[in-house]
Amino acid sequence: MKSRKFAKVVTKLPGRRAKKVVEGTSKYVSPSISRYYPLVVESAHGSLVKDVDGNQFIDFTSGIAVLNTGSTHQKVVEAATKQLQKFIHFSYTDFYYANLVLLAKRVTEIVPGDFEKMVYFGNSGTEAIEAALKLARNYTRRTIFLAHGGAFHGRTMGALSLTASKPVQRTGSFPLVPEVVHFPFPYCYRCPWKQTFPECDYYCVDFFKEQYLEKFVPISDVAAYFFEPVQGEGGYVPAPPDYFKKMEFMRGDGVLFVADEVQTGMGRTGKYFGVEHFGITPDILTIAKGIASGMPLGLTVARAEIMKSWKPGQHGSTFGANPVAVESALATLEVIRSERLLENAKRLGGFAMKRLLEMKDRYEIVGDVRGMGLLIGVEIVRSKRTKEFGDEETHTIIEHCFKSGLLAISAGRNTIRVIPPLNVSKEELDEGLNILEESIALVNRNLIVNRA
Ligand SMILES: Cc1ncc(COP(=O)(O)O)c(C=O)c1O
Repeated sequence: MKSRKFAKVVTKLPGRRAKKVVEGTSKYVSPSISRYYPLVVESAHGSLVKDVDGNQFIDFTSGIAVLNTGSTHQKVVEAATKQLQKFIHFSYTDFYYANLVLLAKRVTEIVPGDFEKMVYFGNSGTEAIEAALKLARNYTRRTIFLAHGGAFHGRTMGALSLTASKPVQRTGSFPLVPEVVHFPFPYCYRCPWKQTFPECDYYCVDFFKEQYLEKFVPISDVAAYFFEPVQGEGGYVPAPPDYFKKMEFMRGDGVLFVADEVQTGMGRTGKYFGVEHFGITPDILTIAKGIASGMPLGLTVARAEIMKSWKPGQHGSTFGANPVAVESALATLEVIRSERLLENAKRLGGFAMKRLLEMKDRYEIVGDVRGMGLLIGVEIVRSKRTKEFGDEETHTIIEHCFKSGLLAISAGRNTIRVIPPLNVSKEELDEGLNILEESIALVNRNLIVNRA
């Protein structure tokens, strides 16, 4: 075992204690949850995670892009603890509390758009999307929603109707909410039209106009277009730079733009929100994951005029805007600001990107490296020329990382996510990247040896 500063694997994985928890989980917890490897968390601080058997891991998952301020940030813990001692719950559906106003105000200040905005509070990403769906229909009095193939917007019935990244997520749930039209996302590495960017001149937009709007989707019936600036669960795929601007022609026909920033938001891309890289201001924007450093909270931010189309009682949630989560969110915003985490994401993202692009040059199985800030995807293929999906190779790399003290997960079929906390230290990031590279090198070597 290599001697490392942060990653310390001291037992054979899974260890004795972890095994017991995994067995109990299989017996008592719904099998609908799919896990990668038997990590059983004991404690987590910053970018380091300890398991129940005394092993320590570097975290390249951030609890699936949630822990942007790292695990158990002192300021977040203090704010939440203070609130826990005052009151834990007093439903915002019927009563008021002061700091909710402060949070709503702060959030409307960082969400792009030089206009008045209002916020609806739920508990999760999928709820933020449900609210956006209902709100868009209510405001426009139209029925159709547009979404992309490869999209992930959540798993409740409405959000699931937009989600299209893996068939298993929809299996057994039909019929879904009607009138959702999916069309291909501009996934340039695997262009659905076999074109090359930028020579293609955004053929994807022309295709959408000609094959959808001019054939079977009446734009006057479209309520909203839902999109992720960088597709997350679909494989960490950023849209090409002018794509959303070119799609803005629909706004002239009254189509609302809904940016799902559940994964891309809260500084992950080096700006507060992913849309800021694309120069567009959505009508509705959803936030969850990173907003409260791990406390459950989901926000739907909309132009005030749109939000005001709702009458009292049209939407709500008992647990929405939980006061402990609200305090955690305020502390999270303060940490992002005072610790300059946007700059950190940009700077360290640049460092990681450089190293990962070197890996792409070095290894046949690294097909593509893409992303923004500290939201980076490494697509694994069996051959650079054919781009054959490296599903098995991706899993072997991730498993090897785990056994070497690095937590990583995939997105889509064959993309490894690099999403450490935004306050990861350069040393931790570097060591994590070393482990990732060793794992890639090993799988790369085996593939080449087996082929020879
Ligand atoms: C872009 C996006 N939207 C919505 C969701 C759903 O969020 P949640 O799991 O909190 O319901 C996710 C979760 O991964 C997501 O990545």
